Amino acid sequence: MKGPVSIGDKLDLNIIDLTNQGLGVGKVEGFTIFVEGGLPGDELIAEIKKTKKNFAEAKAVEIKNPSSKRQISECKYYKNCGGCQLHELDYRAQLDIKTNMVKDAIERIGKLEDVKINPTIGMETPFRYRNKGMFKVGEKEGNISIGYFKNKSHEVVDIEECIIQDEVVDKVLKIVKEYMEKYNVQAYNKKTNKGTIRDIVTRKAKDGSTMVIIVTTSEKLPYKDELIKSLKTVKEVVSIYQNINKKKTPVVLGNKNIKLYGEDKIVDYIDKFKFYISPNSFFQVNPIQTEVLYKKALEYLDLNGGETVFDLYCGIGTISLFISEKAKSVYGVEIVSDAIKDAEENAKLNNVRNIEFIEGKSEEIAPKLLKEGIKADKIVVDPPRKGCDEKLLETIVKIKPETVVYVSCNPSTLARDLKYLDENGYKVIEVQPVDMFPWTMHVECVTLLTRNEDKE
Ligand SMILES: C[S@@+](CC[C@H](N)C(=O)[O-])C[C@H]1O[C@@H](n2cnc3c(N)ncnc32)[C@H](O)[C@@H]1O
Repeated sequence: MKGPVSIGDKLDLNIIDLTNQGLGVGKVEGFTIFVEGGLPGDELIAEIKKTKKNFAEAKAVEIKNPSSKRQISECKYYKNCGGCQLHELDYRAQLDIKTNMVKDAIERIGKLEDVKINPTIGMETPFRYRNKGMFKVGEKEGNISIGYFKNKSHEVVDIEECIIQDEVVDKVLKIVKEYMEKYNVQAYNKKTNKGTIRDIVTRKAKDGSTMVIIVTTSEKLPYKDELIKSLKTVKEVVSIYQNINKKKTPVVLGNKNIKLYGEDKIVDYIDKFKFYISPNSFFQVNPIQTEVLYKKALEYLDLNGGETVFDLYCGIGTISLFISEKAKSVYGVEIVSDAIKDAEENAKLNNVRNIEFIEGKSEEIAPKLLKEGIKADKIVVDPPRKGCDEKLLETIVKIKPETVVYVSCNPSTLARDLKYLDENGYKVIEVQPVDMFPWTMHVECVTLLTRNEDKE
């Protein structure tokens, strides 16, 4: 069956919603049109670019009557750059949309009606918030471009500044670009699998100390000393690495790092806890909102110092450390071996002795701990986007902790897992969305569940 629109049609549309990819949603005779560049409340003309059985994709070509929530973007590159999606939407409206996204998932997928969903906690200043930057390096007609990929393409949008990164990053990108142009250093070309520099990665600690990682296709880096000398002129740059990634892969960092200058690691903080950051280590990218999120998780845990707590999917142990002072003992479980090593090192760095980190899958380690008689009074889970494995949810129900705190970066899988827990003896008390990634559609949530004694 053919839909009511064809490629090339230009249609008057009212945008009524936003998808979780940041596309406006319009309807023609009940048929859904996803509109790039459309925001809720816009009356616009959209040109159809693609048609499918149940929907069509279009691009806004003229905004006839803009939504009252529209603003002039602070980013000069937003029209092309695929890094963010919401630069033309007022920040307060972004927070409302995120709250509604969470509410919708909890009600539609989780089938939970009476859950308290708090308004999304936003940032006071939602700019220059990221402590990590990952920039593609490309070449077009002999010109180097460094920036993010264009939306749905592998073309690199050349940027001179990124307003969600620290100003130091702008300086670093300029230096690398000038160096590549001056010494004719080639950008990596994915199609031919040739060239030298693939990506530039930056990591910044709270005190401003910055690590620069130049990702190359081999150990060769022509005029390396000149590059180091130029980067050293930026006083915040305290560490420079070359990372070798020979593989034809979208994964940015390879396994081999060669230190070119300065510190081996930089030290960052969450609250009073210190964390070592090396080129490959995982760390939350928005330090201000991470603290907000963790404080909420700690508040929901309501620890009295006598409890055993499981921190499942613990990464480098940030939540484990954050809650360690208030608990008797913490077990952190994480699948990535290097993250467990970092977690152990971070515990030592902070003189914390009541955490045991275990490498493995949460869904396998939690039943093992239960079998050994180690039971959690309270459990925190912070899984990746796909949510918790059902086997883990089953085990949580068997362990019967009085409180479960669920940290999630994906409202859909959160809602699915909350439904399971709700049907198996837990009550979802409250969900707190936190905006960790302003200008994007991503939202993080922390949820409090308590054991429902009625279902014993
Ligand atoms: C969203 S991150 C959370 C990290 C950490 N809690 C934090 O706040 O920084 C999810 C973590 O789960 C880990 N992971 C993925 N699948 C896992 C599994 N089945 N068992 C344990 N850890 C897993 C990932 O490697 C990643 O470190």
